[in-house]
Amino acid sequence: MLRRERIAMTTPLVEMDGDEMTRVLWSWVKEFLIRPYLALSTEYYDLGLPERERTGDAVTVRAAEACRRLGVAVKCATITPNEERLAEYQLSKLYPSPNATIRATLDGTVFRTPITTGVIRSYIPSWERPISIARHAYGDVYKATEMCLDAELAEAKVELVATRPDGSELRQLVVDFACRPDSAPSPGGIVQGMHNTTASITSFARSCFEYALTTQQDLWFSAKDTISKKYDRHFRDVFQALYEADYAERFTKTGITYSYTLIDDAVARAVRSQGGFIWALKNYDGDVISDMVASAFGSLAMMTSVLVSPAGCFEYEAAHGTVQRHYYRWQAGEKTSTNPVATIFAWTGALAKRGQLDGLPQLVRFAKGLESAVLKTIASGRMTADLVFLSTVPNKQQLDTETFIKAVAEQLEQGGALDSGL
Ligand SMILES: NC(=O)c1ccc[n+]([C@@H]2O[C@H](COP(=O)([O-])OP(=O)(O)OC[C@H]3O[C@@H](n4cnc5c(N)ncnc54)[C@H](O)[C@@H]3O)[C@@H](O)[C@H]2O)c1
Repeated sequence: MLRRERIAMTTPLVEMDGDEMTRVLWSWVKEFLIRPYLALSTEYYDLGLPERERTGDAVTVRAAEACRRLGVAVKCATITPNEERLAEYQLSKLYPSPNATIRATLDGTVFRTPITTGVIRSYIPSWERPISIARHAYGDVYKATEMCLDAELAEAKVELVATRPDGSELRQLVVDFACRPDSAPSPGGIVQGMHNTTASITSFARSCFEYALTTQQDLWFSAKDTISKKYDRHFRDVFQALYEADYAERFTKTGITYSYTLIDDAVARAVRSQGGFIWALKNYDGDVISDMVASAFGSLAMMTSVLVSPAGCFEYEAAHGTVQRHYYRWQAGEKTSTNPVATIFAWTGALAKRGQLDGLPQLVRFAKGLESAVLKTIASGRMTADLVFLSTVPNKQQLDTETFIKAVAEQLEQGGALDSGL
């Protein structure tokens, strides 16, 4: 390696360490790909389960507050404890998911984007550029109240009732099961009441508009307001009003567009598109369509995730979990071929964002150079096991994780991006 001065940072990143195999990847990524080139400045929080237990989860709360204070964070995957983990880690209680704590503090929206390489087949041939899915993460069916009306409630009348503070009511009939002509021979049925809040929809819309401007991509929002004339229509109206009030001018200047499209039309258009846009979706639609988009692009290990808050905080991470089975094999002394690409891109995303905010073009260039080195390494046929069967490149070579990371470091040295301006 050439002797060179390491790039300086002016504001620390919030660094949140995690669990299992991704914790191992985390230390290698820093050791081989970041520290040799960067005078890395971070405020470090250990969100590994043992430290969450030791601090009664206070460390997660402190980390979430640091995200709000410093504005840019990078997070390793963490275990969300269940009964099995309670026993495995001898926990005193089932701590909440750190991601849920961070989301609740920042009130953000999660954008998931596949990392495309050109040598990993997408199942949709026209998709040349990634599609980022923005899923609204509050309310609707996920906070619904449901009833199954059988036996003595089989002939019930069901209404929506809104009670004003003075006790007066607004009532609307949902269904009167007694009057259903088709009730015999199977009377009764099911009902569901769900809600959302204008504040949550507004902050979702704001995060989407901000992210579209940051990434300079068109934004789509789709729902079904032809059928849901009040509920889905309200989402559409909130997006449109906010767009016209705060974003239309900046979108025009940036050369990007915002459009509302009916969800069935949007699905058909997305499949025929070349990709390269952000697709905002209601909670359930986002849940379903993000998994479809992830598998159509290839692999969960090649999916990044960024939480963007309406106040402009950015928290970057890989979309996958802690890769538990690989960790047990690694603990037993085996070398594993775990894919570190999404973890590397979490770091580059955060570093590039810090560089943009602090006016450090060298830092941005380094982050882009590292991403390019990863993609070139894969294009040269050197990759981890999960990519081998997805890739179209000839002479593929399956590498263990550490060897792959070192191959990226070599590529980075050859890339030239590091020496320009250092
Ligand atoms: N954002 C997060 O912090 C996050 C997200 C999901 C799961 N988790 C946690 O991760 C743990 C394991 O959960 P899981 O098994 O459901 O999810 P996982 O993402 O760790 O693994 C799911 C599957 O994908 C494969 N896989 C995922 N990432 C890979 C990679 N980088 N390289 C190669 N293969 C990869 C795994 O081998 C496994 O078959 C759980 O304790 C869960 O709570 C954390």
